[in-house]
Amino acid sequence: MTATEAPIFTAWDQRDAQLWQTQPVRLAHRLHELPLFSRAGLAALIERYPSQHYNLVHMGPAGQRRFWREGEIGNLSGAEVLTAIEQGRIWINLRNVAKIDPAYRDLLKQIFVELQQRMPGFSTFNEGIGILISSPNAQVYYHADLPGQALWQIAGRKRLYLYPNTQPFLAPEHLEGIALFGHEMDVPYEPWYDEYAKVVELQPGQMMHWPLNAPHRIENLDCLNVSMTMEYWTDDIRRRHIVNVANGILREGFGIAPRSRATAGPAFLAKKVMQKALRNRDWSPKDKPKRGRPPVDFRLDPARLGQIVDLKPAGA
Ligand SMILES: [Fe+2]
Repeated sequence: MTATEAPIFTAWDQRDAQLWQTQPVRLAHRLHELPLFSRAGLAALIERYPSQHYNLVHMGPAGQRRFWREGEIGNLSGAEVLTAIEQGRIWINLRNVAKIDPAYRDLLKQIFVELQQRMPGFSTFNEGIGILISSPNAQVYYHADLPGQALWQIAGRKRLYLYPNTQPFLAPEHLEGIALFGHEMDVPYEPWYDEYAKVVELQPGQMMHWPLNAPHRIENLDCLNVSMTMEYWTDDIRRRHIVNVANGILREGFGIAPRSRATAGPAFLAKKVMQKALRNRDWSPKDKPKRGRPPVDFRLDPARLGQIVDLKPAGA
């Protein structure tokens, strides 16, 4: 079966279109039935995926938060990579799969054609999808994203916690920090926030879309997980981004607490010009340098799937 033979969304209620922007919406899909997402299809994709376009992360021992190392798959086959993830504490993110592979590009196009058919006026650009394959019990910590976001579950089960995109769960300075420095994970989290979360257990064939910037975190259940992350921009999201960058520059660079988050009018236009001129300077506070990609320092162990081998640092 190809992606184009039948709709990707297998159920759509009129109210889903009405709820799309302001509430978390769970939809049914059939990606998990496509050969592109079968175990063999994913193994083949991993084997042809350029290493500069994936992140392979080892999470460290259980219970150690944020001890992340980046690595490479080495000479494992795609099937062995999947087994290693199934048996280890690893995730691989095939970022931007639609840019790398035409079959996934066609799928992305079809998804947005269907969304536009169901929501006339839903006009997007810079759409992207990534495939995230992660170990049993892996977690994604509390964070917020700038573009529109959805999560498609393809294999395994995970629990998604979605929080309101308002204070105290998310403040303007957090969005500014993400826009200016890429500090997605620096949004503070308190365990009691969970009392205000919408908690959804996602299974294959379900997709979740949530309101813009809504903070979220994810816990895999005790099984290998395959998910697809999707993002997109609209004119409104782009305008909000411009405000986040400009207000961040005002706050961090000039010590001014911005009062307006307007996305139209003279103040917005002034910010648009200002941030374009200044956004490429390094505005990072000295104690929070801009994050770069950590160096690759391990390889998957071909002899013990799920384990890793340390790479010697260059020059050592
Ligand atoms: Fe996210």
